[in-house]
Amino acid sequence: PTPTISIDSPTTTEHKTASFHSNSVADPLLFSTDLVSPVIAAQLPPTYTIRPLKKSDYAIGFLDCLRVLTVVGDVTETEFNERYEFLSGQGKGGYYLLVIEDGGRIVGTGALIVERKFIHHLGLVGHIEDIAVAKDQQGKKLGLKLIQALDFIAEKVGCYKTILDCSEANEGFYVKCGFKRAGLEMAHYY
Ligand code: ACO
Repeated sequence: PTPTISIDSPTTTEHKTASFHSNSVADPLLFSTDLVSPVIAAQLPPTYTIRPLKKSDYAIGFLDCLRVLTVVGDVTETEFNERYEFLSGQGKGGYYLLVIEDGGRIVGTGALIVERKFIHHLGLVGHIEDIAVAKDQQGKKLGLKLIQALDFIAEKVGCYKTILDCSEANEGFYVKCGFKRAGLEMAHYY
């Protein structure tokens, strides 16, 4: 279905709408473009597009983008595809990974994991994870747009809140994105 886009620039609308239809049977998007905020898509710089992850993103730097965040390891294309199959199959409805592409390269990514609870009357909680903007693209509001786009998905799929863990160094960024400090992260590594 064609998404409804209500923004001011017709040129931008056409450009963004075209990018919304880049879904194919051979290389499907991880989830429906209905969940990609048309308002956020339209606010990106002209050559940038935001969309769900697809398998071919392996070849255009998805993992390199994540390397600004932490160690990714030497993940082969087969391994990547197997993980993608899990996310889009058994994991359907739980994993929403967005990418920002510019000039045939992934320059930003972020994930929303949807947890299905019994408490809060079978409430859904969103977890924002693995936000990464390529080093040479930082400071252009791409991180902010990614968070806003993930928030849009969380609200649309019915989450009553979204939470995340971050370092003290990134607190200011998340405050600018509308989050506030709540609780304390603890970890047990295996
Ligand atoms: N501390 C304080 N403010 C910040 C920070 C920071 N570390 N980073 C950005 N901001 C501010 C910006 O100055 C801007 O403020 P303004 O609106 O007043 O101009 C606002 O936050 C939005 O900044 P963006 O341009 O959208 O930030 P960017 O695109 O560079 O993305 C990000 C920020 C994601 C932290 C990026 O720097 C990055 O990828 N860093 C390395 C990986 C990382 O640390 N990821 C987050 C891990 S936590 C998690 O994944 C849940």
